[in-house]
Amino acid sequence: MQRFQNKTVVITGASRGIGAAIAKRFAKEGANLVVSANEDLVHSVAEQIQQNGGKAISFVGDVTDKTSVKALYDAAEAAFGGIDVSIQNAGVITIARIEDMTEDEWDKVMAVNTKGVFLCAQEAISRMRKHARGGRIINTASGQARDGFIFTPHYAASKMGVVGITQSLAKEVAAEKITVNAFCPGIIETDMWAYNDQAWGKLLGNYAPGELMKEWVNGIPMKRAGSGEDVAGLVTFLASDDAAYITGQTINVDGGLIMS
Ligand SMILES: NC(=O)c1ccc[n+]([C@@H]2O[C@H](COP(=O)([O-])OP(=O)(O)OC[C@H]3O[C@@H](n4cnc5c(N)ncnc54)[C@H](O)[C@@H]3O)[C@@H](O)[C@H]2O)c1
Repeated sequence: MQRFQNKTVVITGASRGIGAAIAKRFAKEGANLVVSANEDLVHSVAEQIQQNGGKAISFVGDVTDKTSVKALYDAAEAAFGGIDVSIQNAGVITIARIEDMTEDEWDKVMAVNTKGVFLCAQEAISRMRKHARGGRIINTASGQARDGFIFTPHYAASKMGVVGITQSLAKEVAAEKITVNAFCPGIIETDMWAYNDQAWGKLLGNYAPGELMKEWVNGIPMKRAGSGEDVAGLVTFLASDDAAYITGQTINVDGGLIMS
């Protein structure tokens, strides 16, 4: 299926994990990809897409830096023309008891996960408004936007913030055929979850690597962790014409972990 032929899709946090999987799925469906992250590994994602016959450029930048974000969207427009879909997916987490959590950790998680979504959406929307053919803004939240987990108050706040940004922007641009939605991954097997497993595991009872994740996955009604492809299915749907009448929504993709 080539649902995204001639559409330009910008995605942050696309060097690995969920972002890379989303990018590869869009590429398979014909999109022009702009894959971005704050590490050089992102170049290899663009190369893989190109080797498989897709169209992609890569951009190394920092979503917390307005100048860098502007340069990302400039590069996208220069390569492919206007921007049709912008996926704000870059994210970070740390896990610590309240007494041990530093102000720097708080600031960094809020800056990447919340301000980063704002800066990228701001840049994308202003460019979508110029070409006036509508668009899709899709933001990565988390199960923690529904239910704050232990030892991560900054991360829970940052992802609940993403839902607020989503709803506010959706109202502002709804009449311009720009939809704004968010999604909440549950437990998805990525580098971030490998860290979560060991950091939560240590604080919650000295679990051996992999043990805590196994226990939590057992609590998922579908009894398995998710994959980047599971998430990509939802995100491409939200970006498609079939989702034209859906805006301001936050949708869980978690095997039934949280039902709301
Ligand atoms: N893995 C999960 O189970 C899970 C669950 C819920 C939500 N999420 C969210 O999904 C998103 C992707 O998570 P993942 O598991 O693939 O993580 P990951 O750690 O594998 O990848 C994170 C990506 O974000 C990029 N990034 C980090 N800081 C950045 C910055 N300042 N500027 C630009 N890019 C930056 C990294 O380069 C990388 O590409 C994140 O927003 C995360 O919070 C993940």
